[in-house]
This record gives sequence, C-alpha cells and structure tokens, in this order.
Amino acid sequence: MILIIDFGSQYNQLIARRVRECRVYSRIYPPGVDIDTIKALNPEGIILSGGPSSIYENESPGMDSAVFNLDIPILGICYGMQFMVHALGGTVKQAEKREYGFAELLVENPEGLFAGIKGKTQCWMSHGDSVETLPEGFRVTASTENTPVAAAENVRKRLYGLQFHPEVAHTPEGSKILRNFLFKTCGCKPTWTMKSFAGKSIREITQTVGSKKVLLGLSGGVDSSVTAILLHRAIGKQLTCIFVDNGLLRKNEAAKLKKVFRQHFDANIRFVNAGGLFLRALAGIIDPERKRKIIGRIFMEVFEAEAKKIRDAEFLAQGTLYPDVIESVSAFGGPTSIIKSHHNVGGLPRKMKLKLIEPLKYLFKDEVRLLGKELGLPEELIWRQPFPGPGLAIRIIGEVTRQRLTILREVDAVLLDQVRSKGYYRKLWQSFAVLLPLKSVGIMGDKRTYENIVAIRAVTSKDAMTADWAKLPHDLLGDISNKIINEVRGVNRVVYDISSKPPSTIEWE
Ligand code: XMP
Repeated sequence: MILIIDFGSQYNQLIARRVRECRVYSRIYPPGVDIDTIKALNPEGIILSGGPSSIYENESPGMDSAVFNLDIPILGICYGMQFMVHALGGTVKQAEKREYGFAELLVENPEGLFAGIKGKTQCWMSHGDSVETLPEGFRVTASTENTPVAAAENVRKRLYGLQFHPEVAHTPEGSKILRNFLFKTCGCKPTWTMKSFAGKSIREITQTVGSKKVLLGLSGGVDSSVTAILLHRAIGKQLTCIFVDNGLLRKNEAAKLKKVFRQHFDANIRFVNAGGLFLRALAGIIDPERKRKIIGRIFMEVFEAEAKKIRDAEFLAQGTLYPDVIESVSAFGGPTSIIKSHHNVGGLPRKMKLKLIEPLKYLFKDEVRLLGKELGLPEELIWRQPFPGPGLAIRIIGEVTRQRLTILREVDAVLLDQVRSKGYYRKLWQSFAVLLPLKSVGIMGDKRTYENIVAIRAVTSKDAMTADWAKLPHDLLGDISNKIINEVRGVNRVVYDISSKPPSTIEWE
C-alpha cells in the first residue's frame, strides 16, 4: 500500500488513481495523521502531495517530520518536496511569480526515478516557491530553465522530490517516474486488481456480518447495484434489498432492475410500489426545493416502514464512494460532496440502531464499474447515466401529475432510444428530456394543435461540477425531434438546451 498525504493539491485524487492504475493500492490521509498510525498502516511508500500553500505561510499544512526517519521511501511532489526540503534543513525560495505550464526537463542521469528516461522531456509545472539549497545528502537529478532543482534525491535514505507533477497527462513520462518509484524504490508488486479486491471484500463482509441480516436501499444506480451484488456474493439471502418505486422513474426502469436482481442474481429484494403516495404528496407543488423535500421525506418513511418488517436486521449497507470519504476527512478538502445522494438514509442507522457497511468507500467510480463487471453485473447497469433521486419530478417544470409523467416518460424513452442506438449514450454524462409548463401552436395534418413543449438536455462532464452542452450532430437532433413529435401524443415542439454549467445547472429544477 502507498500512503498519500494530502497537502491540498487539486491533483491528489489523481495521484491515488495513477498509483492504483499500476495495480498498487493507495490511500489518501490528511497531514495530521500520526506516526503510530502510519507505522500501523505499514505502507511500502509515502507520497507527499502538492498543495496551494507556501511553507512560509502561517497556516501552511505540515506533518510530523519523524516521517522522514521511518525508513520508508518518500516521494514529495511540488509542495510535498518543498516541505521535505525545509523539514530536513534545506532552503526554499519564495517566489516573485508563479511558474505554470509546460517546461522542458533536463534529466541528469537515466537512473533512479528517471530510469529509462533520457535527456530532455516535457513536464508540467504549477508552483510559486522553489527549492534553493538541498539538505545534506541530497543531490539534484533534473532541472529546467526556470527551476534549477526540478528533481532531487537522497538515495541512501530513499527520499525523492519532484517540483513538477508526474501525475498529470501533461508530463508524458510521469507514469514511468511513478512506476520507478513504486516498483524499483518501494518494491511494490502489481497485485491489486478488482478481482483481488472483490475476494478480500467478500471475506471481510462475511466476517463482519456473521449470521446477521443486512439491509440495503437499492436505487438502480451503479453504486448501490454493485454494493448489493458484492454483499449478495458474500452473504446471499442474509441481505435484503429494498427498492422504493416512487413512480418518478424512467420507462421500464423498475422492471429491468427487478429482472436483473431477481432472475439473474436470485437476490432477496423487496419492491415497494409507492408511486401513488408520492404523487398525492406532490399535488399542487411547483417549487423545486419543496418537491425535493417532499420526495426525500416520503422516501424515508416508506423505506423505514419496509425496513421494520425485516426482523433483527443489524446492518445497513451503503454505496458510499471514496471521493466523498476523502472530502469529508481531508483538512484541505474541496466541496463536501460532488453529487449528493438523494437516498439519504443517513439518519436511519442511528434511528433504527443499524451499523453501517460501506464496502466501496475506498473506491473511485471507474473502479466501482470495473468491480461491477468483475461481479457479472450487466453493462446496462454498470454504464447507467446518473439519474437524480427526485427523478422525473424535477424534470417536469410546474406541477407533477400522472398525465404529465406519462408524457415525459414516453418522450424520455424515445430520446434515450435514439441516443443509445446512435452510440452516444456512454459519451454523454447525462441526456434527458424536460417537460415545460408552456404550450405552443403547431400544425399536424391539416389541423391546428396547441400542445406541450419539451426541452432536450444532453451534457458532457467529468464529475457534474461543471458540464458542457453536448454538440450532438444535427441529424441526430432532427431524428430525436421528429420521433418525439410523431410518437408521443401531447407534444408538438422540441427545443435543445445549449447552456453550460456554470452558469446554468444540469437539471432545470
Ligand atoms: P445540477 O442540476 O446541480 O446537477 O447541475 C448536478 C448533478 O446532480 C444531479 N442532481 C441530483 N441528484 N438528487 C440527486 O440524487 C437531487 O436532488 C439532484 N439534483 C441534481 C444531477 O442529475 C446531476 O447529475
């Protein structure tokens, strides 16, 4: 295992992923982690991440410098390197201006971290301060025009520093440098795969749960689906999944899910058909936040009532992912949560005295998808676009009625069918339709119509924090529009949303 100390860099998750791509397990810890914890974790190497601070700032993050005496190889990146140099008696020069962008790196010798890298190569710089003099026992191993100490090492103590960022794609030899650190310096073995993860996780779940019962709220999204299958593998019918059909889902979603979990996996699953309850509570409600609150409250009530029917359940399993965990522990973390889970059963464990099981809490989304594949989950579930908890209710602008739900569900099905059949489904972060509270005049046959307008939203994104409207080909947009107007009664106009986030949001409500 490689321990990554989070000094606040925007790239620290990327470092963790790069290490894992080399099939070496990595975990991110805040700088406050104490030396005994580090010893107990027994990492094969430590990476000190970059960060936005200068070591000269009062509030700049630091860690116990005893870490440098543990005889564990350490790689400091950017701020991490400056922290190491400063802590060991070298000097760091305060910058007059930042260096940001590509630089040409001149490698002294193709050895150590630079084994297999000759002469000049490109690297990515993003720093203010830089190293002026090195601590005793260190030597310079690479430089750039602006940064004489772009890389340094103390081979005897196995301490290494890089001023540039090897984890970003802009440093083409970056992964070779990281591999050299992992495999040559730390002696790691590339054994961490989703298969090994699944095996270990199943053993742990079996041990923790024993003969007790576990509950899980299944939403149909990839996280809760993979959690369910993992638990099912470990404890079979001791797991009960509860799926609340709120009547606000896409066409055939509930049926598809039922088929996968009942027929394919023979899992213990309870479907609660609560559509009527949600619809009645939403009657007359127009304000988006009120819609969300009502849906959240009813979901909790329905889930809890169903959960109480399972006698002696001791655990609640949840599909929490690593980015949420990192952001909640990191002292220098960014926003608290990237995508908020609507299935906020957060209060439930305490209320029902359930213990939490979160088997995915050290995985990134793409790793969860690989795990799902490893466990035999169908592609359709693994690659499902995110779907908000309040579902179609926040895609019907204005009041949610049964009739409007039917229209939107049909429109959405036509849209998805087109997007899928033309090969765009996996290229888009999300694609969906929105039913507007407006009518417009149209002409069908030789009759004048006065019907609904729908908007199509399709975006590309990495994490939903920002998103770009998708530049879908005009003929695909044309087909989508024609099919919707021809096949769905009650719609006579289709418009395409060409706004990005920010300043717009992905959803309309
Ligand atoms: P916005 O509209 O804020 O959406 O750009 C960002 C991402 O979050 C999803 N979203 C929600 N998910 N409950 C959810 O579970 C919600 O209330 C909710 N609102 C937005 C949205 O689909 C997008 O992926």
